[in-house]
Amino acid sequence: MDKISNVRGRKILNSRGIPTIEVEVEAKGVRGRASIPEGKSVGKYEAVSLPPEEAIENIREKIAPAIIGKEANFKEIDRELIKMDGTENKSNLGANTILGISLACARVQAKLEKKSLFDFLSQFFSSESEDKKEIDLTVLMNIVNGGMHAFGGPDIQEYHIVIKGENLEESIFLGAEIYREMRKFFKGNIGDEGGLVPRFNDNQFPLEAISRVIAEKQVRKKVRLGLDVAASQLFDGEKYKLGQALLSPQALLEFYLRLSKKFDIVYLEDPFCEDDYNSFTILKEKIEGCLIVGDDLTVTHFEKTKKAIEEEAISGIVVKPNQVGTLSEVIDIINFAQKKGIKVIISHRSGETNDSFIADLAVACGAWGIKTGAPARGEEVAKYNRLLEIYYEKKSQD
Ligand code: PGA
Ligand code: ZN
Repeated sequence: MDKISNVRGRKILNSRGIPTIEVEVEAKGVRGRASIPEGKSVGKYEAVSLPPEEAIENIREKIAPAIIGKEANFKEIDRELIKMDGTENKSNLGANTILGISLACARVQAKLEKKSLFDFLSQFFSSESEDKKEIDLTVLMNIVNGGMHAFGGPDIQEYHIVIKGENLEESIFLGAEIYREMRKFFKGNIGDEGGLVPRFNDNQFPLEAISRVIAEKQVRKKVRLGLDVAASQLFDGEKYKLGQALLSPQALLEFYLRLSKKFDIVYLEDPFCEDDYNSFTILKEKIEGCLIVGDDLTVTHFEKTKKAIEEEAISGIVVKPNQVGTLSEVIDIINFAQKKGIKVIISHRSGETNDSFIADLAVACGAWGIKTGAPARGEEVAKYNRLLEIYYEKKSQD
């Protein structure tokens, strides 16, 4: 029995310079750490995170006394903390608090089993890809930022390159090359996810600029386009504000159909607000060769994901661990979605830390894709470098 001997929470900074928590769990002299990111365009149905001071106090006063002496088993600890929290949205202990314990505990277990984190995690997933030597992962790099993630710039929040090279190494380096090349169009600031921020609000120009670079580099087969519209942020209860226009859901749908004819868009996240399943369903039916992906719509929530699948509203889901608050629930949703043929995209948040847990998670579950910003900030580069480390580690086992 590997009993938990200590649990600590402390305050660190995230990539926006805002305080967040880092959690440490110790068992048998082995320590596991995790730090928790924070979203800015937060879905209204996400689990609730608490200010760091409250989270740390909850760890010290409530959680530590309850779990010290218990076995370091994240599934059992998750169950216990969900019960102790007692709310639907984890607002009592805090989704960030519980997730910190959960991830740190999983790291302790991996270390005690002398396994790499991705290797340890893979046992919990039913997908077959964990046995594959090659990592079959599409890289979504958010290279132009707008919406809530930028001062100025377009209304659409994220312009992605969707990269599938010969292998993961090629995908990452190719993406980074395209990102650097894009600087000739946008010389100004970068946004919260490291993407370039145009000085003007033109929602189409970033797509034209990216398409031009892809054509110049002759990488059309490997690099396609994607958008996270984060449409809930543009919705006033009736219409969507896009540039100078106020669009009805129907007009927005037609805009997407025109856009997808003009550009090679293969990924569209949150094209409508978080309550409008119906528009998602119609768009999914009408658009060709493009994944329709839920983020604010599904919020890594089992029932919401189930509903979106039943309504045939989505072909992919974004999974963000801090939207739900435990690793166990993240695993359940991924297994459920994959069984239903829904593509899984593991994602960071716009206020990140150097913790690269999601890189291991994406490989372990055989995710379709990973979204972790532009290769511009240390917090994002940490994830890309961890993916490369896993790639090289797996390759050396050949
Ligand atoms: P957030 O945005 O981390 O600011 O919530 C990311 C997203 O919408 O995918
Ligand atoms: Zn999103």
